[in-house]
Amino acid sequence: MGKKIVCTGRGGTGKTTFVALATKYLSLHPLLVDADSDQNLAELLGVDLQKEAVRTISDILFDIQKGKGSEELNSMPLPDKLEYLLNADCLYESEKFDMISIGVKWTRGCYCSPNNLLRSIISKIAGSYEYTIIDSPGGLEHLNRRVISEVNDIFVVLDPSKKALNNIERIKKIASEIGIHFNNLYLIANYRFNENAVEYLKNINENYLGKIEYDPDLEEYNWSGRSLLDLAQDSPAFSSVKNIMTKAGYQAGS
Ligand SMILES: Nc1ncnc2c1ncn2[C@@H]1O[C@H](COP(=O)(O)OP(=O)(O)O)[C@@H](O)[C@H]1O
Ligand SMILES: [Mg+2]
Repeated sequence: MGKKIVCTGRGGTGKTTFVALATKYLSLHPLLVDADSDQNLAELLGVDLQKEAVRTISDILFDIQKGKGSEELNSMPLPDKLEYLLNADCLYESEKFDMISIGVKWTRGCYCSPNNLLRSIISKIAGSYEYTIIDSPGGLEHLNRRVISEVNDIFVVLDPSKKALNNIERIKKIASEIGIHFNNLYLIANYRFNENAVEYLKNINENYLGKIEYDPDLEEYNWSGRSLLDLAQDSPAFSSVKNIMTKAGYQAGS
């Protein structure tokens, strides 16, 4: 079975950047799942999903609820219809990675019946990839067991604040409450950590993997819409992600 990685953290800490650079590191055509309402993962990878006419899962759930769609489609049993629509409308495919986005409407909480079918369909799609990487909003609340229940590693990108540190316990609690099983929970310091704060992290009783160094090129990449997959091999941010992924036991793809 493929490995499933979740990256979480508060807004603005750098988790989407981490997911993009982990994708670059693994180089193994992963499935990326954008579960954040910011939905900027595609953008950081140089893709405009709207232009590509790729829809979010919440869009199709919304349509199903409203009974939209062709007669032929509406005559399908719900699980088949959902699986068909997910593959046909929501899966973005490219040379380096594939991607699905959960979307905003759904993350705000939709308890309609197709919801309960999602996990098995997402698992089925994820099953054909060696890696699935999920970009999840802070606290994991939105990433519930309807999306995924078994993950290998959770990476938490932290900003240097008491709130972020308090969040660690909360993430563990929520993971257990919403029924997500994981093997490891790793902490990563974001680029804003100073030495003292890094020392602090090293000394708490958690799996701390390292810091993502400040990278002046990221701003330029974000501004121009260039894919972070093109970031230089020796750039500060990518070098940091390489170290972190290596420590977590992931090998670089070629
Ligand atoms: N290592 C870094 N050096 C400099 N800027 C960074 C770094 N990591 C992230 N950023 C910047 O911080 C902002 C938020 O990053 P992002 O990955 O979108 O965070 P999140 O997904 O947690 O909201 C972006 O403008 C990004 O370019
Ligand atoms: Mg993000």
